[in-house]
Amino acid sequence: MKTSQLTTRSALALFGGPKIRPRPFPTWPVFGPPEERRLLRALRSGKWGKLHGPEVAEFERRFAALHGCQHAIAVVNGTVSLRIALMAAGLQAGDEVIVPPYTFLATATAVVEANMVPVFADVELETFNLDPRAVAAAITPRTRAIMPVHFAGQPADMDRIMALARKHKLIVIEDAAHAHGALFKKKPAGSIGHLGSFSFQSSKNLTCGEGGIITTNNARLAEACRSIHNCGRIPGGVWYEHHVMSANYRLGEFQGAVLNTQLNRLIAQTKTRDRNGQYLAARLRQIPGVYPQRRTAATARHSYHLFLFRIDASAFGAPRAAVLKALAAEGIPVSGGYPIPLYRQPLFLNQAFGPYLPGSRKKLNFGEVHCPNCERLCAEQGAWLEQSLFLGSRKDMDDIVRAFAKVYEHRSLLNQVQS
Ligand SMILES: Cc1ncc(COP(=O)(O)O)c(C=O)c1O
Repeated sequence: MKTSQLTTRSALALFGGPKIRPRPFPTWPVFGPPEERRLLRALRSGKWGKLHGPEVAEFERRFAALHGCQHAIAVVNGTVSLRIALMAAGLQAGDEVIVPPYTFLATATAVVEANMVPVFADVELETFNLDPRAVAAAITPRTRAIMPVHFAGQPADMDRIMALARKHKLIVIEDAAHAHGALFKKKPAGSIGHLGSFSFQSSKNLTCGEGGIITTNNARLAEACRSIHNCGRIPGGVWYEHHVMSANYRLGEFQGAVLNTQLNRLIAQTKTRDRNGQYLAARLRQIPGVYPQRRTAATARHSYHLFLFRIDASAFGAPRAAVLKALAAEGIPVSGGYPIPLYRQPLFLNQAFGPYLPGSRKKLNFGEVHCPNCERLCAEQGAWLEQSLFLGSRKDMDDIVRAFAKVYEHRSLLNQVQS
């Protein structure tokens, strides 16, 4: 395909030409009368807490079943869910947990907040997901767990990660904060490791504003999670009897009511995103210098929380920032992704861990960590589009393609773009 077949010859919107996409894309969240009715019902019931109402309990059952799990424990957010999973798995202070550095902060800080050491292993450039070879190289005698992120909604290479875990007797906690409804082969995200963790924060593909959930097929781990999220109580124990270090992390009934209605929409929305995402990836791949995230053969359903791509500055003759600025001016809401790897965040460089990890600090030096693929994604190439765009039509995808093609065609002007 010639890019000139896709565009008008008009000037870049950045320099006063007409926008390719003047209309907004679909927004998020999507809600309507079912959410209103169910929220009102929960309100009028007077049962606003998980201990007394039916909503969260019903949601836990339905979410677990949809994700191929026997157990699910809803909590206040998707950071706490990671920490509870680590604690339930019996990890101890100073144990090492392997995490990717190209992810939201919470994947690594949940480890620190559990008094454990995050060890960063690089991601693959083409999938943006944890590289199993880097994981293998990061394993030490102190490693106790691996926490792969199904980044953007494409499952990590769980066959190789689980094989490493079996070999070294490690716990695997899937950070599935982006991966509601995603499938690795026939298995839902969150059902493959020992434990899974999801977020329901506002931007997520399933949301109630704030919330999270832990999934597992292991009854013992489920019981430990239930106890930790409920002040250390145990089945059959009396009310003021507390057995383990814990707190109240229970999700409320209003969130449960919203999640129960949102869950009815999830699979249809996920299929729409996957269809649009695959279509867009195929078309963008034809534009020089644009590399959509490689889809692995094991990805039976990608939840496209983010549509990831890389920009090759040399093909555009201009840096990523100029390309993205020109796309934004054409009406395409685009992000350059994470600007620095997690291990370069001041929090890690300065070990600003508050009271956590007192015994490990002398041994740690995050300034020495080097994950070349992650650094390249952050500094030069990585970019993404958000999930709500993919709830739209094929015509919406075509507008995105036309904007990329127009920017590529006018690439010789991009060096005039002020950063
Ligand atoms: C990969 C990942 N893990 C964990 C979290 C934490 O979830 P929450 O914001 O619900 O605490 C997020 C997002 O916000 C995330 O993107």
